[in-house]
Amino acid sequence: MPNKPPPKLARPRIVRTVAALRRSVMGYKAAGETVALVPTMGALHDGHLSLVRLARRRARRVIVSIFVNPAQFAPHEDLASYPRSFDADLAALAKANVDLVFAPAVEAMYPPGFALRIVPEGPAKAALEDAFRPDFFTGVATVVGKLLIQCAPTIAVFGEKDYQQLKVVTQLARDLDLPVKIIGAPIVREADGLAMSSRNAYLSEHERKAAPTLYRVLKDCAGRIKRGELPARVLDEGGAAIERAGFTLDYLEARHADTLRKIELPADAPIRLLVAARIGRTRLIDNVAV
Ligand code: PAF
Repeated sequence: MPNKPPPKLARPRIVRTVAALRRSVMGYKAAGETVALVPTMGALHDGHLSLVRLARRRARRVIVSIFVNPAQFAPHEDLASYPRSFDADLAALAKANVDLVFAPAVEAMYPPGFALRIVPEGPAKAALEDAFRPDFFTGVATVVGKLLIQCAPTIAVFGEKDYQQLKVVTQLARDLDLPVKIIGAPIVREADGLAMSSRNAYLSEHERKAAPTLYRVLKDCAGRIKRGELPARVLDEGGAAIERAGFTLDYLEARHADTLRKIELPADAPIRLLVAARIGRTRLIDNVAV
């Protein structure tokens, strides 16, 4: 007996224009269906797929956007080399049972004459990522604001790995009175603790071996603060350990988990530890709860 070919997975519908996206969403809503949006820049890994699975559990229809947003890259950053793997992304999204992929061209998102920037404050000015990437959250807020208006989802799912970004988009949705619930999804890690990220692909073998230091240090610092040690001292030592592993440290900070304000005492809970550090040409970020 010849082997039966495996059953073909239904490809998600791919739409490239806002008008086509809106027609699909109107159809879902006319049928009384809830809609989840998972915004991505593609180069999907298990971290993204965990967002999709969460969305799948919480809504009848799941839309994934794939758009490498030029507005959130500074001229010296990696826009041109940012990993792109559209066919593999589509195959993964088909397996994850995604209904629709919104993959606009740059001109569809930012047509000639486009003249808007959403400049967020509050959590976007917490002196974390914004201190090193001054225009990043303007680019993120502008594109996420557009995506939330274009897709009009019931919920939108963002990873906690970009913790400050999660706070920024939550505030954005609240301040613009958008009728969407923003949901944060836990960080997905490799077996050795490294947080999954599309940018991990840039790491050399040697850098990849050093990379889990970030999570190890975060966990160690979190444990010590939980046991009552002063955050400032613990983080000084943690930062030194990160630099010894070959990183250049951008920041290692203890912040209030909700407001991102600076904290000084273990009692200033809930606390989130956040780190950003560079190794070779790669900049990695991570965070843990205390
Ligand atoms: O986290 C990302 O991948 C991006 O910043 C986002 C939210 C898709 C906006 O471009």
